[in-house]
Amino acid sequence: MLSYRHAFHAGNHADVLKHAVQSLILEALCAKDKGFCYIDTHAGAGGYALAHEWTQKKAEYLGGIAPLWQQREQWPALAGYFAAIQAMNDGDRLDYYPGSPKVAEHFQRPQDRLVLMELHNNEVDNLRQNLRRDGVAIHHRDGFEGLVGLLPPTPRRGLVLIDPPYELKEDYHRVADTLAKAHKRWPIGIYAVWYPLLAKQVDRSTGLKQALARCGFEQVLCAELGVGRQADDFGMHGSGMVVLNPPWKLEQQLSQLLPRLTAALALDPQASWKLEWLNG
Ligand SMILES: C[S@@+](CC[C@H](N)C(=O)[O-])C[C@H]1O[C@@H](n2cnc3c(N)ncnc32)[C@H](O)[C@@H]1O
Repeated sequence: MLSYRHAFHAGNHADVLKHAVQSLILEALCAKDKGFCYIDTHAGAGGYALAHEWTQKKAEYLGGIAPLWQQREQWPALAGYFAAIQAMNDGDRLDYYPGSPKVAEHFQRPQDRLVLMELHNNEVDNLRQNLRRDGVAIHHRDGFEGLVGLLPPTPRRGLVLIDPPYELKEDYHRVADTLAKAHKRWPIGIYAVWYPLLAKQVDRSTGLKQALARCGFEQVLCAELGVGRQADDFGMHGSGMVVLNPPWKLEQQLSQLLPRLTAALALDPQASWKLEWLNG
């Protein structure tokens, strides 16, 4: 039974980190004329209306994209990310927020392919409504199994985004297991894995990172952004992105962005960031 709906969290600090990193990688792929394939294993609905009652319930975007959107001209390094948001909104308004599929659509050129997987019956319908264009394939299926079956993709260069809800503990194991299989089939692909930073008693990020470092990839870059203090028992205080085979400029870009993003999104003095090679 799938209960997670991303509309409740659209545009929060975790989406900002995830989609900013996703945009930087897609920009790097667009630097060459040669086409790329973008694969999203857990695509969600594609895009989100911020006025929706689910999104308004906790209005998490007010602590994420909303303050940055007001000062977006001060973030030239994130111009591609903000352009993807602008494409869904009129002028200075912020009525819609792009999910990872709409971010990818913004960068897609005629030679590029998008493959989007989503398991939830309603979410996949929403995804089909939101992503109607040539060069986009939408699969109603398990993203972990689907990814292994699709590799290697055509074109042979590209990005895989793995963004599970982690409501099931097995998601952590499935991410690492899937990446070990993916490495055997498509070792040159770029893979980006999002994960939450949770309260002390329930956080599993350290084990996940150790497992990702052992999947066979030589270069594994990890970026984390914590917006506040880690609680003992409950809650998410930040998130991370592990990028396997990162584009060569990504480390330098993130070393400049993460301190500024953390300062802009901090909830308390314990907000922090980290950038490290997991297997260096
Ligand atoms: C965190 S959301 C995705 C958000 C999206 N990547 C974005 O950034 O806009 C996770 C999604 O994965 C879906 N999901 C859960 N388990 C799945 C599975 N095994 N395969 C594919 N999708 C799954 C959920 O229904 C949910 O829509």
